[in-house]
Amino acid sequence: MCGIIGIASNKSVSSNIIQSLKKLEYRGYDSAGIATIVNGNIDEKKCSGRVDNLEKILFKNPTKGVSGIGHVRWATHGIPNTLNAHPHSSEEVSVVHNGIIENSNQLKQDLEKKGYKFKSQTDTEVITFLLTDFLKNLDLVDAINKTLDKLHGSFALGILFKKHKDIVAGARRGSPLAVGYGPKENYLGSDSYALKSMTNKITYLDDGDICLLTNNRIEFYNSKNKKINKEILTLSNDKHTAEKGDYKDFMSKEINEQNITVKTCIKEYIDQIRKGINIYNFPINPKEIQKIILIGCGTAFHSCLTAKYWLEELTSISTEIDIASEFRYRKIKFNKKYLYIFVSQSGETADTFAALDLCKKNNVKTCSIVNVVESSIARNSDFVLPIHAGPEIGVASTKAFIGQMLVLYILAIKLSEVRGEISKSDYEKNIFDLKKLPDLIKETLDQQDKIQIIAKDFLNAKGAMFLGRGLSFPIALEGALKLKELSYLHAEGYPAGEMKHGPLALIEEGLPVVILAPKDRYFEKTISNMQEVIARGGKVILITNENNKIISENVRFTFEIPAANNNLAPFLMTIPLQLLAYHVASLKNCDIDKPRNLAKSVTVE
Ligand code: AGP
Repeated sequence: MCGIIGIASNKSVSSNIIQSLKKLEYRGYDSAGIATIVNGNIDEKKCSGRVDNLEKILFKNPTKGVSGIGHVRWATHGIPNTLNAHPHSSEEVSVVHNGIIENSNQLKQDLEKKGYKFKSQTDTEVITFLLTDFLKNLDLVDAINKTLDKLHGSFALGILFKKHKDIVAGARRGSPLAVGYGPKENYLGSDSYALKSMTNKITYLDDGDICLLTNNRIEFYNSKNKKINKEILTLSNDKHTAEKGDYKDFMSKEINEQNITVKTCIKEYIDQIRKGINIYNFPINPKEIQKIILIGCGTAFHSCLTAKYWLEELTSISTEIDIASEFRYRKIKFNKKYLYIFVSQSGETADTFAALDLCKKNNVKTCSIVNVVESSIARNSDFVLPIHAGPEIGVASTKAFIGQMLVLYILAIKLSEVRGEISKSDYEKNIFDLKKLPDLIKETLDQQDKIQIIAKDFLNAKGAMFLGRGLSFPIALEGALKLKELSYLHAEGYPAGEMKHGPLALIEEGLPVVILAPKDRYFEKTISNMQEVIARGGKVILITNENNKIISENVRFTFEIPAANNNLAPFLMTIPLQLLAYHVASLKNCDIDKPRNLAKSVTVE
């Protein structure tokens, strides 16, 4: 999704803006641009494609401005080309924008009547001209506030002014924006990650806030043009670097480090001396929680679904799951005895944030499970449980999914203990088994060569299916999602028991079907479903921890995961599915870390 950088300095800013834009590349984008003020004029340079292209343009034609804004764009209004790339400038101002202006058509008509000529198809250009118009009679802050009053939708803005060459302004409503404090310059960023290499002192703008930055001063204003003070936060140090190291891409690094991220997370939550789980200060007395509602999008939603099975298995709390984009628009019956849990790697997903906001407005207690502890979702929840996975750069979520499931599983065990719903010995046994998970993951990762061979079978397939029951069902959904987003191959994830109710019609000679069948209480039933697939010509890839030659007959490949506590099977089954998607995509020469059309941080709805 779009990303914003702004730097107010006393030396040329273009190369630092480029470096910071590169940090935002992980979000997914299709064009890039930069603007600075040079000799009293706005100098705007932009291009379609990668930041590298922009760097080449700047290499040929450097820009010397001491304050500047930069942007990576993920197209919403208008195709991804140079004209639609940000910044969008008039004679007076230059604007970069994240988010969507919902009433841009109406505003455009009004501005055209006033004589403004639009060059792009974007919604952003209306902001440029509104500001230009208000600046004729108003000072900077007043003109920004009057512009914001006209806009419907969600946005974060970075702004440069021809007449104020040392100022960078920022404003937000709905989309996140952070301000960074440097020793001799100050920064604006759509997320703190992009600013981390320059500073660890950050302030987050709240909805309606405006900031004005120069190299040695930062001022904040509210929507009434009044100066306000804001808290400065110190960012946490990441234990894991965001470098690729010897790996070909971030995704293979992120898959292969899962034994380590899981170990780190377990260390954070399991008290080594008391052998208990370190989760305290629940926002509701755990004994009084009547229901848990888990909310997320995409992969995060799949982790919510695994948690439903664990919570139902281990506690008496009834559990519902919801997709954030649906939850936020339904007529929800909020209840103070329910705990609303939001799961999000980035902590910035617009739909998940809006669902959280709705809960806050209805005065119910919220908990978030995030990877980015400084994120908007974390900052706005009553209770935060970090997944400690370190920065995840690949757009396709891997180690964060495992991390989300891990924290949700630990939470389920903790709740069963504090509610007195598990025996002491079972509680300790679950923790004992959990501590083996990093080694079990490593053992599974060590078999990755086999997946490379299996992946070849998917190359000429016109689709694939992933089937599982119980805890394997969410993993089937996740396996299908990973394959879709990385290799662009159509894939369906289904509860194996549902096949007869329709999807069995899809099975034909040679269709790859991944069957997830750990030796749990569903095992025999899943194997029967597998036989139905084989009988219709499906090419079965069986993932199981049951070594049984008779069952493996007529199966194209069997991938054995290590035997473990049944509750740990989802983690172990996920690994071969991530690797499968990775290798199919590699064989098809797809862009592994940045799949087409997708973004890491989905900050528009
Ligand atoms: C995962 O592979 C996807 N790219 C996507 O489904 C993602 O999980 C979803 O957009 C939610 O993101 P979040 O965890 O940052 O909220």
